[in-house]
Amino acid sequence: MSELYFLKNRGNPESKTIDFYLAHGGYEALKKTLKSFEPNDVIEEVKKSGLRGRGGAGFPTGLKWSFVPQDNPNPKYLVCNADESEPGTFKDRYIIEHEPHMLIEGMIISSYAIRSHLAYIYIRGEFVQGARILEEALAEAREKGFLGKNILGSGYDLDIYVHRGGGAYICGEETGLLESLEGKRGWPRLKPPFPAVVGLFKSPTIINNVETLANVPLIMERGGDWYSQLGPNPKNAGIKLYCVSGHVNRPGLFEFEMGMNLKELIYEHAGGIYKGHQLKGVIPGGSSTPVLRPDEIDVSMDYDSLAAIGTMFGSAGTIVMDETTCMVDALYNLERFYAHESCGQCTPCREGTMWMVKLLRRLEHGEGTVEDVDLLADIAGNIMGRTICPLGDAAAMPAKSFVQKFRDEFIEHAKQHKCPVKKDKSIKVTDANA
Ligand SMILES: Cc1cc2nc3c(=O)[nH]c(=O)nc-3n(C[C@H](O)[C@H](O)[C@H](O)COP(=O)(O)O)c2cc1C
Ligand code: SF4
Repeated sequence: MSELYFLKNRGNPESKTIDFYLAHGGYEALKKTLKSFEPNDVIEEVKKSGLRGRGGAGFPTGLKWSFVPQDNPNPKYLVCNADESEPGTFKDRYIIEHEPHMLIEGMIISSYAIRSHLAYIYIRGEFVQGARILEEALAEAREKGFLGKNILGSGYDLDIYVHRGGGAYICGEETGLLESLEGKRGWPRLKPPFPAVVGLFKSPTIINNVETLANVPLIMERGGDWYSQLGPNPKNAGIKLYCVSGHVNRPGLFEFEMGMNLKELIYEHAGGIYKGHQLKGVIPGGSSTPVLRPDEIDVSMDYDSLAAIGTMFGSAGTIVMDETTCMVDALYNLERFYAHESCGQCTPCREGTMWMVKLLRRLEHGEGTVEDVDLLADIAGNIMGRTICPLGDAAAMPAKSFVQKFRDEFIEHAKQHKCPVKKDKSIKVTDANA
């Protein structure tokens, strides 16, 4: 797509108002949908588009919607996951703060598709400004008749509420989120049953990411077939927001079709490596996705291409690390985050993340041994696939990949009894578990 969709109004403070949105074709997709589409037809259109979830797992959106059992007498819910806590990811916040009506229009169409009459936006507690903007945008939409009873005379009723989270990463995991939305501690649930069947208040619930839902008006406006032509192939179709942070000259948010080349993203669009330094490693899709070496980044940023080289597209939160980065320290930083955010329900995740933090701290302080390097990889291997929710895997995957791809640097820490990268560094102990 030559023109921008998400970022087309970048820098315009009016873009969040309903008047601006309406003046630029906003809510036309909703009008078209309510006039000409039955709910099942919307699901078919989204299936045709090839849209996959932009929250990290890449599950096909239309297919997920089709799992809602329509013979279940309970209410159906749509929940927008606006938790966005994955380090390196800052795309949903842009949509919320600058294009809230794109999200709201997408949510109304999606709720109609799954026959829901009540939807929630679960927003990360720290996004105070975002929650305020959403509340104002919802009030505007209600006033114009896009929400409430008998929307646009169609006979369809819907309301949407904003629910602010407590600020825990685990509340971004869909079942932790549902627990939190029900007013409980955000402890993930065992699956199956999946939320589409047993979700919020034991009722069928679809949980979708902000960016996923904000794609829906575009799909309904131009058609699923048109959308599926964007990107490298129909299984990796559409448009995408890419976040780039770390050691680049121009960090920020970029919009392209799916399949942007990772090397081009870093060296052309993000301005190359900071101060002309050498590239050392790239985390392509948010902090939990396996790290890549510089010789691996000539790759298409899409679900299948990144999976083929052993990593993940995730939330497209690309973190760039240059030659001044100590990979032990970088992993130590990541693992402290996961240990802190583990909800503690599963032993491998609760204990394993703590052990990894201790080993990494030891290595970074020059107190580790060569055996510790293998022990680290071993612990990560014992967390993988043995937990209730994927946070365990999210903590294990960086550890496994960092040790595998930068093994020499880990070994050198043990052999030299100091950090060989940041020789002058005086390490401050910042974690409570040290
Ligand atoms: C620990 C953890 C944190 C997550 N955080 C988020 C998040 O902040 N936002 C999000 O959309 N999905 C997050 N997810 C993924 C959700 O569980 C879920 O797959 C997603 O919201 C589904 O939406 P989608 O199909 O539109 O991608 C997280 C998953 C895990 C395991
Ligand atoms: S994997 Fe970790 S975060 Fe997920 S349920 Fe188990 S202990 Fe909690």
